[in-house]
Amino acid sequence: EKITLSVIKADVGSISGHVMPHPDQLAAATKVLAEAKQKGLLIDFHVTHVGDDIQLIMTHRKGVDAPEIHELAWNAFKAAAKVARELKLYAAGQDLLSDAFSGNVRGLGPGVAEIEMVERKAEPVITFHADKTEPGAFNLPIFRIFADPFNTAGLVIDPRMHDGFIFEVYDVFEGKSVKLSAPEEMYDILALIGTPGRYVVRRVYRKSDNLQAAVVSVERLNLIAGKYVGKDDPVAIVRAQHGLPAAGEVLEAFSFPHLVAGWMRGSHHGPLIPVPQRYAKVTRFDGPPRVMALGWNIAKGKLIGPVDLFDDVAFDETRRLAVQIAEYMRRHGPFMPHRLGPEEMEYTTLPAVLEKLKDRFVKTEEVHVIRRHSELLSGTSEEEQK
Ligand code: F6R
Ligand code: MG
Ligand code: MG
Repeated sequence: EKITLSVIKADVGSISGHVMPHPDQLAAATKVLAEAKQKGLLIDFHVTHVGDDIQLIMTHRKGVDAPEIHELAWNAFKAAAKVARELKLYAAGQDLLSDAFSGNVRGLGPGVAEIEMVERKAEPVITFHADKTEPGAFNLPIFRIFADPFNTAGLVIDPRMHDGFIFEVYDVFEGKSVKLSAPEEMYDILALIGTPGRYVVRRVYRKSDNLQAAVVSVERLNLIAGKYVGKDDPVAIVRAQHGLPAAGEVLEAFSFPHLVAGWMRGSHHGPLIPVPQRYAKVTRFDGPPRVMALGWNIAKGKLIGPVDLFDDVAFDETRRLAVQIAEYMRRHGPFMPHRLGPEEMEYTTLPAVLEKLKDRFVKTEEVHVIRRHSELLSGTSEEEQK
């Protein structure tokens, strides 16, 4: 019998800026899901948050992209948004881009990661919840978990993993995906996913039996809304153990606080800090970007847990390094590479600034001078002189 784990998240308002939701919002969402559990639509659920995003973790038998489940999530977010409006919280209802639900929350604002599975004898799963960053933020750790033997000892040691994994890489601009095989096509995978703003690892499968081991939400809010609305604050699900990477190998990939896009106004690079629930609110410069990991076992669809996995001294040094990197990056102020590059700034004020200044740009050098500059650079002018 198959069960589905669905993690659906949205930012529908928060206290004192984009910091964290109000407990009454979580209570409102919980009430909606509790009723659905009572009716038998959900087997189990858990409601939490990271930063300003409400996270709905749900199990059921309806499969992925099930209209009833998506509508339920939509209604839970609507209830939380209603509370936000009553309390005059900030950005109430922000991620609900449409007034009407239309069968699937994807494309309407919320982020979705769902995985349908036949429960193994024991089914250890980790859900990841990030704020102030984008789906591609998971590229580096997911690659390390499933393709890097320096991270995952099991790739070398465990015969069940030895064949490697299939990476489904999604192009968020074209809406197309490609399946690539690790380790054979490792360099092709990296050539794509090293551009995390465009190519996102969406799903990972074990090669030997096609078991789906991971899924990442790929919704990019800005691209959906056509303008800047906030970053996409992704979620991910990773199954562990039994011929998959061990829980500790999965978490190990987050011990390096790599730079990701997001942070203040979704327009800055900063380190991704692995945090426990108590640090799952964003303060400095609306960040820095952070990720929480919850550990579960699934038992006939029941969610056993969570364990707050980054709540460990073993990640203290990662956090300290991340804070140092945050300080270093912040000192660049509005300069790249702290601020994102022009392609990413397209959705913010950059086009407006260029438009405003377009008549004030004047040509200050003659064309032949510009040509000489390029000749000097390419070294051709020297030969001409001889
Ligand atoms: C980033 C984010 C915040 C806001 C910032 C400005 O994802 O949500 O950094 O972009 O607080 O918010 P507004 O424009 O709503 O004042
Ligand atoms: Mg927000
Ligand atoms: Mg957020």
